Order: sequence, then C-alpha cells, then structure tokens
Amino acid sequence: MVKLCFVCLGNICRSPTADGIMHHLVETKGFSGKILVDSAGTGGWHAGEKADPRSRKTAEANGVKLQSIARKFVAEDFRRFDYILAMDRNNRRDILDIAQSEDDENKVYLFRSFDPQSAQNAEVPDPYYGGESGFQDVFDICMRGCEGLLTHLVKEYGL
Ligand code: 4NP
Repeated sequence: MVKLCFVCLGNICRSPTADGIMHHLVETKGFSGKILVDSAGTGGWHAGEKADPRSRKTAEANGVKLQSIARKFVAEDFRRFDYILAMDRNNRRDILDIAQSEDDENKVYLFRSFDPQSAQNAEVPDPYYGGESGFQDVFDICMRGCEGLLTHLVKEYGL
C-alpha cells in the first residue's frame, strides 16, 4: 500500500480537492487497496471542518465528492505516509520544519512537480480570499497533478 498525504495551509480548499480527486481516480481506475489517500493542513484553525463550500461545490460540478474533515499535519504523519505532497512552497517549508530525519525530509514533495506540464517549483495558488474562478483553477491543477502522480506511482511500484 502506497500512502499519500496532501498538505496545504487550512486543509479546507486545496488539499481536500487533491484528496477527493485522488480518491476518485483510485476508485475509478481500480487502485483501491493499493493507494491510501489523506490530507492535512499546516495550520489547525479549521480542524474538524468539512472542505470549504466553494471547493465542495466546484468539485461536485466536476463529478468529485470531497469527504475530508480538516486536521493539522503533525510529526507523526512522517511515520504514516510515504509521500507528503505540499501544495505550495510555504507549506513545504512548514512541513520540513518539523521533519526529524533525512528519511522524513525525503518524503516531502511539491505536489505540482508530478505534473509534467508544470513549470519547476510551480505551486497550487491559494483560492481562499479570491473569487469563484480560482476554485475551478485549483480543481484543474489538482486533476493534472493527481493524474501525473498516479502515472508516477504506477511506474515506480508496478501497480
Ligand atoms: P487552503 O486555503 O490552505 O487551500 O485550505 C486556506 C484556507 C483557510 C485559510 C487560508 C487558506 N485561512 O487563513 O483561514
């Protein structure tokens, strides 16, 4: 079982979108039982909340249901997951700040690095304070990233 954790700041917009899309792809493409998917936020202000209504509405319009309940990313998550996928460079820095070993550090990636169409160091933009169109952009970026990540995992693990 390959274990993935998507991480953003609040765990209510970007990482729940990637989490929901990856769950959807795992189920529809026959990877259930092979890939485990979760998400978390580097901040804990929204812990216990469902994804932002705007993220849920956008995902549903695109055929994906978001099921996440927000929680804070903790050091223990380095033990539980193989891939820790940061939505932006600040998220990556905050995750690396609590890494306890090189093994921990080696699990941390910028999520968009798995999208072959993305520029190096590209981020998933934070849609929280912006308009509705930002949520569709995030959905599209997350879909490309999840498809790229899945292609990588299939190759890497022979799934
Ligand atoms: P996310 O978006 O990191 O994609 O979940 C945000 C959600 C909440 C806040 C910031 C970003 N906030 O400041 O409460």
